[in-house]
Amino acid sequence: MKHKIACTGIKPTGVPHIGNYFGAIKPALALAEEYQTRYFIADYHAINSMRDPEELRLRTYDVAATWLACGLDPEKSLVYRQSQVPETFDLTLILMAFTAKGLMNRAHAYKAMVDQNLQNGKDPDDGINMGLFTYPVLMAADILLFDTDVVPVGRDQQQHLEMTADIAQAVNANYGKPLLTVPVPLIQENTHTVIGLDGRKMSKSYHNTIPLFLPAKQMRKLIMKIVTNSQTIEESKDPDSCNVFSLYRLFASAEQTEEMRKLYLAGGMGWGQAKQALFEIMDNQLSDFRTRYNDLIANRDYIDQILAEGSARARELAVQKVGYLKKEIGVA
Ligand code: TRP
Repeated sequence: MKHKIACTGIKPTGVPHIGNYFGAIKPALALAEEYQTRYFIADYHAINSMRDPEELRLRTYDVAATWLACGLDPEKSLVYRQSQVPETFDLTLILMAFTAKGLMNRAHAYKAMVDQNLQNGKDPDDGINMGLFTYPVLMAADILLFDTDVVPVGRDQQQHLEMTADIAQAVNANYGKPLLTVPVPLIQENTHTVIGLDGRKMSKSYHNTIPLFLPAKQMRKLIMKIVTNSQTIEESKDPDSCNVFSLYRLFASAEQTEEMRKLYLAGGMGWGQAKQALFEIMDNQLSDFRTRYNDLIANRDYIDQILAEGSARARELAVQKVGYLKKEIGVA
């Protein structure tokens, strides 16, 4: 029986790419070996900025199908929708009372928007809603509701986790007992940053991504566009500064990586050949994911069922936790 609990939220945004897979999805899923794992779709977080209902619905299915296709096992992990666990919002309101406004003023995302408004000569609060301002409190509730020990997140979420710990400690200090488990972040330091087509970090905002579920033909076309230098076929090539190699090693075993390294150094391998090898190893590994994803995304009823079942199980835990807290703080 695994005792420690890992929980993380997924915002329903964007088409997943190779960088998301190696940077977030794969490491978060690997925790299921060691922890009781909980993964949820943060749909109420999304409405702060996503106002088109059809788009939100589409992205929710998309992100659920993505994680399931990549190996999330709903039998072993709890998978749910934030909006289907309304105790989250009871807890959010309790936490609001313990959250200093000054703490929220310091949140990076909020501060960045204020700074941008000031730079543009606008009112500092322009376009900022209370959902955005109080985002860290809802996130703290997501985490604290399930007595979470560790939260796998990217470096950009570190401040949110510090705020979660601050808020939990304020509650515990007031009532003089550990009502809430103080979580720690599990920051996913990428062993190697996933490099995009142009050699910069793979990111949607650079338009240099390789989508995870792209059909084979289109994927091959993208791979052929990866930027390389102008060395001739005969020349010996440096694997460590090569964008093709940096992707290859993500998919390859240690032995395959070593073999490819030798081919680079030996000379005689052109960029077309290296790219073809990359395509083959990627297609080999991603074709199962792609098939599963396509099956899932065509079956919304099945996804609904998985999320409804997971949410019902999550609620059982949440009702207990919130019931206990309400008694302890005197509102029940
Ligand atoms: N803020 C996270 C992000 O932008 C998503 C998120 C919401 C989350 N609630 C969470 C992550 C709770 C971890 C735990 O990616």
